[in-house]
Amino acid sequence: MTGKIVLGALAPHPPHLVYAENPPQNEPKAEGGWETLRWGYDKLRASLAKLDYDVIIVLSPHWRTYVGTHVLAHPHFKGLSVDPVFPHLFRYNYDLKVDVALAEALNAEAQKTGYPMKLMKNPDYRIDYGTIVSCHLANPKWDKPIVAISSHSSSAYFSPDVMQEEMLALAKITRAAIEKSGKKVVLLASNSLSHRHFTKEPPLPEDMSHEHIYNHSQYLWDMKLIELFKAGKSKEVFQLMPDFTEQAIGETDSGALSWLLATMNFPTKPAEVHAYGTVIGTGNAIVEWSLT
Ligand SMILES: [Fe+2]
Repeated sequence: MTGKIVLGALAPHPPHLVYAENPPQNEPKAEGGWETLRWGYDKLRASLAKLDYDVIIVLSPHWRTYVGTHVLAHPHFKGLSVDPVFPHLFRYNYDLKVDVALAEALNAEAQKTGYPMKLMKNPDYRIDYGTIVSCHLANPKWDKPIVAISSHSSSAYFSPDVMQEEMLALAKITRAAIEKSGKKVVLLASNSLSHRHFTKEPPLPEDMSHEHIYNHSQYLWDMKLIELFKAGKSKEVFQLMPDFTEQAIGETDSGALSWLLATMNFPTKPAEVHAYGTVIGTGNAIVEWSLT
């Protein structure tokens, strides 16, 4: 049977959302906060609960690799992930399983085309919080294996146009590996949209009287992308990505959203926008493309 993508989602990773939820894995405890976004994730969780799928593939902006793209390829990782910027909000005990066969298939496809890729087989490797937060918020039971892909910082080190070309190539590789695997796959792009953020934190981080949009121009950029998602114009989103990334200081500089849209082959079906909200002023949208 040919493998396929059954659902793709833009699944941003503000650690605040895990903090606000108080799962047993996270040490700091909150009084709540950022409910609109968390209710959006509830809707994504409900969609996934109804879905028959084998594995989640996630691309995270916070696993930055400067020499090519890396992929987790050890069956089990367990440890403590501490957000370097928000250690008071996110100290998360993770325990996750990796679909090593699919990770190796991805690498095999990459080697065929000369795309620089490496497998991370160190069992003590500390998993980045972008991967953990997006996977937790989408599937808090952690009952599916994941394949985690790093972000090669081509946007920062070269340009957003180079990033776009790389993500088109990575998307082809990802699609080929999925098809050959015979598996039903969920894709997650772990990134915010506009990403300029506050430099001072209120005394109580979850005090929502302090949370608001940081910058009107960046808000307008976020709304432009959301309008295109809802209209099924994912190709246009891809074409706008270099401008968006530079002008909205987008976390799309990781390539995650470009990879997601290209791997799904630019769906023309309207996406479902489950939520939009800010976290320390950054723009976050939870968006689902159901492909079944
Ligand atoms: Fe981030």
